[in-house]
Amino acid sequence: MDNSQQHLQIAFIGAGRMSYCLISGLLKKGYDQRCITASAQHQTSLTRLLQRLNQQSEKEINLITSTANTHLVKQADIVVLAVKPVAIKNILQQICEQDVLGHKPLIVTLAAGISITYMLAHLQREKYPIVRSMPNTPAQLGLGMTGLYANACVTTVQRNWIEALFQSLGKVLWVDAEQKLDTVTAISGSGPAYFFYIVEILEQIATEQGLPAHQASQLVRQTMLGAAHMLMQEEISPEQLREQVTSPGGSTEQAINVLKGSKLYTTFKQAIIAAKKRTEEFNNK
Ligand SMILES: NC(=O)c1ccc[n+]([C@@H]2O[C@H](COP(=O)([O-])OP(=O)(O)OC[C@H]3O[C@@H](n4cnc5c(N)ncnc54)[C@H](OP(=O)(O)O)[C@@H]3O)[C@@H](O)[C@H]2O)c1
Repeated sequence: MDNSQQHLQIAFIGAGRMSYCLISGLLKKGYDQRCITASAQHQTSLTRLLQRLNQQSEKEINLITSTANTHLVKQADIVVLAVKPVAIKNILQQICEQDVLGHKPLIVTLAAGISITYMLAHLQREKYPIVRSMPNTPAQLGLGMTGLYANACVTTVQRNWIEALFQSLGKVLWVDAEQKLDTVTAISGSGPAYFFYIVEILEQIATEQGLPAHQASQLVRQTMLGAAHMLMQEEISPEQLREQVTSPGGSTEQAINVLKGSKLYTTFKQAIIAAKKRTEEFNNK
């Protein structure tokens, strides 16, 4: 993030998990807290957000917050809609009714399955710069993966802002067609949940096979961490990495044979398609 980007005023609408992830990522990268604001419907949500941010920071964090969404939009260069999809319509209507977009802040949405066409309709505009983003929760550690799509009204300078914003949370990937975000949502947006589910299963089986819970947990988590590092460091494919662990006739081969025979691929594919379909259903609402 260069110096000019460090001073952009960013208004977060919503004070939940994703706002926390994004704001804590920005603060860890040294973003000036005076340039970040947050709004939510309830003061308790804002208080909770500030408490969480302060727990992870050595410096005192005291963002400007409000229970009036549009109040903070007036001063923003970037407005981040970090609310559940169901809340988007209402917020866009508030923005529209109170006519606070005169200075044309860029709107960035995190809501899965809310299309740009839907947003423009509720903003009552034919054209407006909007970026759709699909981050994931490892963003809070700076290890996020964010998919991004910008409509044609977004300038190159604005794209650079957004790229820098989300790069402070990990890696970013632009897609060239809005519908590709549905696949991004099903793979990397929901992906941490699939991974945690596999960890849950392995830990449970390890305890069933006689290990104490704390040992099962250590074995599984450190194994996942080590394997993930190998994936990112080695110049070889996951398949080759797997083959390196799989000696002919050995125990890993036995396990992999069972997994291959169990239609795991088909099950995963069905899961991803189900997630994608759900996102597409939101798009069409
Ligand atoms: N969690 C994930 O892993 C993940 C990953 C990628 C994308 N996303 C997307 O990110 C978005 C936010 O998810 P989240 O997990 O952060 O949700 P969350 O934890 O439920 O937080 C939602 C926030 O929105 C606020 N809110 C609700 N209605 C509002 C309104 N009308 N005006 C202002 N604030 C309002 C809520 O506070 P009040 O009730 O006080 O208003 C709350 O602070 C969602 O659209 C989700 O699809 C989530």
